[in-house]
Amino acid sequence: MSRAMSKLTPFLCALVLAAACGKKEEAAGAPPPVTKPAAGPAVAAAPAPAADPAARARELFTSQCAVCHGASGKGDGAGAASLDPKPRDYTDQAWQAATDDARIKKIILEGGAANGLAAAMPPYGGMLASEPAVLDELVKLIRSFGG
Ligand code: HEC
Repeated sequence: MSRAMSKLTPFLCALVLAAACGKKEEAAGAPPPVTKPAAGPAVAAAPAPAADPAARARELFTSQCAVCHGASGKGDGAGAASLDPKPRDYTDQAWQAATDDARIKKIILEGGAANGLAAAMPPYGGMLASEPAVLDELVKLIRSFGG
């Protein structure tokens, strides 16, 4: 190593270090985003579409609708006693003839209040908007009560 080089070496080292430090500071300038653990229970992914829409519709009617509309669709579920107006009696032939599938679907998705009916009829859009096949089967089920 020449004398000049050996004199320069500490200076070069300092330069290299400074450069390295500069880079470090730059990188440290933007702290990585802190990923907070999700609060509460993990949010379940959207459920896969029902494999058997007809079975799902029957299950849904029993668990969600029968309490008001009655197991046989007569509007005589346990929850109907205190309701006024009463839940629709699906066996009513005049009603079956007067309504159409699109309106039934709309009321199920949007609820009674949004359609000029009693607010006691809840909206099920959150559950069924992404399940058109189940909604179709639910309408068929309601139609089947009419005979
Ligand atoms: C808390 C009680 C309640 C529950 C639960 C309920 N309904 Fe209703 N539903 C009603 C009432 C009350 C009416 C009548 C509203 C009116 O006539 O003003 C109604 C009306 C309806 C209508 C409209 C009928 C018409 O007059 O055109 C449809 C369709 C319907 N419900 C379907 C369902 C379905 C399907 C479910 C389950 C997914 C369900 N309802 C759950 C209370 C309920």
